[in-house]
Amino acid sequence: MTSSSLNRVDVTEFATRAHTAITLCTLGQAHLSSYHMTQRVLLIVGGGIAAYKSLLLIRELARRGIACQVILTKGGTEFVTALSAGALSGEPVFTDLWELDEQAEMGHIELSRSADMLVVAPATANLLSRAAHGVADDLATTTLLATDKRVLYAPAMNVRMWGAAATQRNIKTLADDGALFIGPDIGDMACGEYGPGRMAEPDAIADAVQGALMGDMSLDGLRSDKPLTGRKAVVTAGPTREAIDPVRYISNHSSGRQGYAIAQALADQGAQVTLVSGPTALPAPHGVARIDIESAREMLAAVEGALPADIFVSVAAVADWRPAVQYDKKGPKPKNGIPPLEMTENPDILASICKAKPRPKLCIGFAAQTHDVIKLARAKRKRKGCDWIVANDVSGDVMGGDNNAVTVVTQDGEESWPRADKRAIARKLAQKISHDFRKAIS
Ligand code: CTP
Repeated sequence: MTSSSLNRVDVTEFATRAHTAITLCTLGQAHLSSYHMTQRVLLIVGGGIAAYKSLLLIRELARRGIACQVILTKGGTEFVTALSAGALSGEPVFTDLWELDEQAEMGHIELSRSADMLVVAPATANLLSRAAHGVADDLATTTLLATDKRVLYAPAMNVRMWGAAATQRNIKTLADDGALFIGPDIGDMACGEYGPGRMAEPDAIADAVQGALMGDMSLDGLRSDKPLTGRKAVVTAGPTREAIDPVRYISNHSSGRQGYAIAQALADQGAQVTLVSGPTALPAPHGVARIDIESAREMLAAVEGALPADIFVSVAAVADWRPAVQYDKKGPKPKNGIPPLEMTENPDILASICKAKPRPKLCIGFAAQTHDVIKLARAKRKRKGCDWIVANDVSGDVMGGDNNAVTVVTQDGEESWPRADKRAIARKLAQKISHDFRKAIS
């Protein structure tokens, strides 16, 4: 391809300077120069407020060693500039089909040919509609029509536009044609409304891109149909509180973040989710039924009450012990010495649910370890009778922190996932669960 064959915003000089600055300022060791990168994405940025997140996506892809060539739609240029996109990608940015020279015919074909996959982010309702109908009236849609590469759409629009029958029809058409989808996420939107419509976060899109480039089967979970529709899931999260008397209790540092993120990710995949939660500071995930409990015994009763279910994910940091006697009144300080605190064992919720009749088809436990993580997790999986154990090393800042690095231990072996945001781990687990259910019914 000759770059002159397309209307190009030549940002090379600016990009080189900005690129150096960005590399030094924000990317640390990451290689931003596409010269070193072996995989390439063609990123189409549509005209939506979420376009600013696409700039972060370019940076996130670069951090992961994936080069990015950008096409801005006309609407896209209203939200981000070609200069910013070019500075971050280190490559020329293309915007317009209509000012092409005689080689133009090949230009857009070559653009998609030189990429390993296409990503449309934000994929606006208009862009999705034009792509679904094979419209080719600008560079972005012409490239989409001409490509034989995998296309990942990250939709972003107003809640009602997303829910509109026309949009859902277009999504189905594109999905039937083999497109992948990520999001939209549920949450507050720039237009002041709440619901599904927010573009997926850049790290989640980058995870999906990486998965697609690796031919990850779990990407089946990214198709627009919800693979866990009709499935019931019960998730436990947070700490338990074991009362000593009406004002004192024994508990732990669990924030509930990982369990809440898993509940949300399963709901996003279509599951009907009940979250049984110990005391946390977190809002209930959207579309999830939350039952608040305090003690381990209350948690067990709530979980049993939510059965039967297809999936049980036991993320709660359940106190193994509780005070043998719980006083009705706050006792006075003893005159001499320290008061005795006799303890008794709590029920093991995971082990009980793994023996329940009917048993959830997939029971997943977590193993919080500070040493010999995998060895102890393997033993724990057998001891508790669960299908998978998600093992994590809690010797660092995992409890209460934002990130987690886990190894999933199943009867078939182990799968280690690199340290990532707890929401990313949750999405990956939900995708693995979806994949497992797809396998079971195929
Ligand atoms: N768990 C449970 N009920 C308990 C204790 C733990 O359901 N009374 C669940 C946790 O939710 C987690 C798994 O069991 O999914 C493992 O929890 P962990 O605290 O790592 O293990 P323990 O059972 O406490 O074993 P140990 O303390 O010996 O490591």
